[in-house]
Amino acid sequence: MKAVAIRPGQKNSVFMQEIEKPEVVPGQLLIRVLETGICGTDLEIINGDFGTAPSGADFLVLGHESFGRVEAVSPGLENSGWQPGDYVVCTVRRPCHDHDPNCDSGHSDMCLTGNYTERGIKDQHGFMTEFYSEYPDFAIKVPASYRPWGVLLEPTAVVEKAIYQSYKIQERLDFEPKRAVVLGAGPIGLLATFLLRDRGLETFTIAHSLGGPTNPKAVLTERVGATYLSSQEVEVEHLDKMLGNIDIIIEASGSSEIVFQGMAALGPNGVMSITGVEGGHNSLAIDANRLNHQLVMGNQVVFGSVNANRRYFEMGVESWGSLEKKWPGALSSMITRRLPIEDFQTAFGRDRNNIKTVLQIGAE
Ligand code: BGC
Repeated sequence: MKAVAIRPGQKNSVFMQEIEKPEVVPGQLLIRVLETGICGTDLEIINGDFGTAPSGADFLVLGHESFGRVEAVSPGLENSGWQPGDYVVCTVRRPCHDHDPNCDSGHSDMCLTGNYTERGIKDQHGFMTEFYSEYPDFAIKVPASYRPWGVLLEPTAVVEKAIYQSYKIQERLDFEPKRAVVLGAGPIGLLATFLLRDRGLETFTIAHSLGGPTNPKAVLTERVGATYLSSQEVEVEHLDKMLGNIDIIIEASGSSEIVFQGMAALGPNGVMSITGVEGGHNSLAIDANRLNHQLVMGNQVVFGSVNANRRYFEMGVESWGSLEKKWPGALSSMITRRLPIEDFQTAFGRDRNNIKTVLQIGAE
């Protein structure tokens, strides 16, 4: 069967690889992949910055954002609640086996040892292929009515985690947030915008491109009642002067410079979650005294957030119900390009106005 793969560490080595269709493995679900989403991490892997092959292999099958259908349920799983035909998304990370209490309790997203594996990213083949096999522990059922945007569940889960943990951290005080800022309007930034608006926060989303009716990111931001601002027109580090106290910042710009600018704009008692990373090195001149002063005198918390365990995928499915009711069609309009798997090279090309590209793999 077809698979889109790379040679780890080799720039632009993406190619179509023929691999064997998996058997029905006892205790697992055999899943037919319908679609996989493409994200910045895939592009970094293709760039050779990231990604490792499973042991013994000299290639890595890409794809960690998947959407599929159960093809077969192995013997022993008759009473598991899974049926052939169910729509399914699987989590990305698999636990380490080093007695890490987080991995042992289903929180491999908080793995302490770093010895976790990730499908399509680190030491395990991904979902950019026709079939895969997985344990139900890592599989989340998706209602059939969510099929048009079901492939967005993995990035939604990543955002659910960042927002849930922001609120969890803020249990340290009487937290009644009113204003939120999202830095970046890629899929993570837009999903954060949707979820913060769903919680009723006044939300400002800042991205590089200019707003206006020809920018689909700006259009979607405004559609959910948030305000789109261009970093060409506003200074991120002075956003608080313009907007008033900022209680929550979700950073999803992929720029370490923006991370520090965002920190400077955070309000008293505020919380900021950083979800993006930038490769390479970047030495910056920052006003360290000012940031230090602000963090201390403002009781602020800045934290990083990566990956998502199944709890956040389940939260994502829950939130979708509310989002779709409030802003019908907003989720599905995030998918701006659907291309057949054969067009994988085009799919990996960057395009400023594109939001989410999805590879179509299997037919129903
Ligand atoms: C994925 C996460 C993963 C992270 C680091 C992200 O693109 O969404 O699931 O943990 O990359 O590998």
